[in-house]
Amino acid sequence: DRIVDFRGTRQAGIVTPVQDRLHFASFDVITDSRTELVNLLKRWTAAAERMTRGQETVDGGATGHGRYLPPPDTGEALGLSPSSLTLTIGFGPSLFGPTPAAPGRKDRFGLAKHRPEALTELPAFAKDALETSRSDGDLCIQACADDPQVAVHAIRNLARMGFGVVSVRWSQLGFGRTSSTSRSQQTPRNMFGFKDGTANLTAEQADLLDRWVWVAPEDNPAEAQWLTGGSYLVARRIRMDIEPWDRAALSEQEAIIGRSKGDGAPLGKDKEFDKPDFVVTSSGSPVIPKTAHVRLAHPDNLGGVQILRRGYNFTDGSDGFGHLDAGLFFLAYCRNAQNQFVPMQRALATKDAMMEYITHTGSALYACPPGLGADDWWGQRLF
Ligand code: HEM
Repeated sequence: DRIVDFRGTRQAGIVTPVQDRLHFASFDVITDSRTELVNLLKRWTAAAERMTRGQETVDGGATGHGRYLPPPDTGEALGLSPSSLTLTIGFGPSLFGPTPAAPGRKDRFGLAKHRPEALTELPAFAKDALETSRSDGDLCIQACADDPQVAVHAIRNLARMGFGVVSVRWSQLGFGRTSSTSRSQQTPRNMFGFKDGTANLTAEQADLLDRWVWVAPEDNPAEAQWLTGGSYLVARRIRMDIEPWDRAALSEQEAIIGRSKGDGAPLGKDKEFDKPDFVVTSSGSPVIPKTAHVRLAHPDNLGGVQILRRGYNFTDGSDGFGHLDAGLFFLAYCRNAQNQFVPMQRALATKDAMMEYITHTGSALYACPPGLGADDWWGQRLF
């Protein structure tokens, strides 16, 4: 029955202990009117805050607005608990007009001068197989809840309120969190069967969050200070080749990840939270192979870089060839995605043995503003 505060210094849904379910939606703004967009953001904020308390989008929304009108709330969350619903908003590079990747894009809303330099399209990575219909977008809303119907209801109603102003570009459902963001949570497992989120940043590590997650004043000039206290969100839809993986021997699976499948301990160690030993001696091969995922993604091998992972498992049925269309919907928050996610993904895309079993099919980057004060609306500091 838990209610997560919608307002606060930070947006909810980032270091909030990860809920069980996700509905993530990316939108395109289909009007050129700044006023229409601002009005929607205000209406969205009010509805979002109500829904996080377990209420309808407006008072009496599902049944109380007369028999001869479509009800303003679609009703499927009536009687359900707030389920720790969080709604987190982010703005994509395309909302701000021209970027180095798209110099000719029109600045429809007069936001170009407010674009933080790091809010620019991610570069192409080796082996990317990105689908346009699963990538990018002018803005996103991440809905996380412990009840899937609550998360879906929230996105459905926000999308519906946006009729004529925004249209859904793509959306993704997720089940089964693949990371912990708090020491109070047990490490969950991903679709490869491995514990995922062991070496993640957590809500308790305030210093590390300041260093690696929250945008600081010195990161941007005056025009882009609206993002101070916020964070960048990287979303990658990563398809996992489940059937070939299931035919790989346990020893191969463990060598690919660099941890044991049972308890999640680093190879050569006993317990999940033991420190991995990456030593490569001149004689023989290292305990954790050079191509292991955890070696390549570890801060020691990336000049100290860390990120906050907050992804979900997904299974979108089967692909028409009898294979599960399943994988990991990777979500990560960082203070500067270009300096943190990009070098990490470059290392993984070219060297990670896991690449043989995964394909990145969607990608997007958003800037998520800081939390909301008492009367603030989504994006207020930007507009
Ligand atoms: C660690 C799985 C994609 C970054 C791990 C671990 C597993 C795992 C099992 C070890 C447990 C843990 O510490 O969480 C996967 C799978 C992926 C995937 C199945 C894709 C389907 C990515 C991507 C990135 C990434 C795209 C970033 C670009 C990390 C990091 C760690 C990690 C930073 C912790 C490394 C450490 O410090 O020990 N991943 N991962 N992973 N992964 Fe991934």
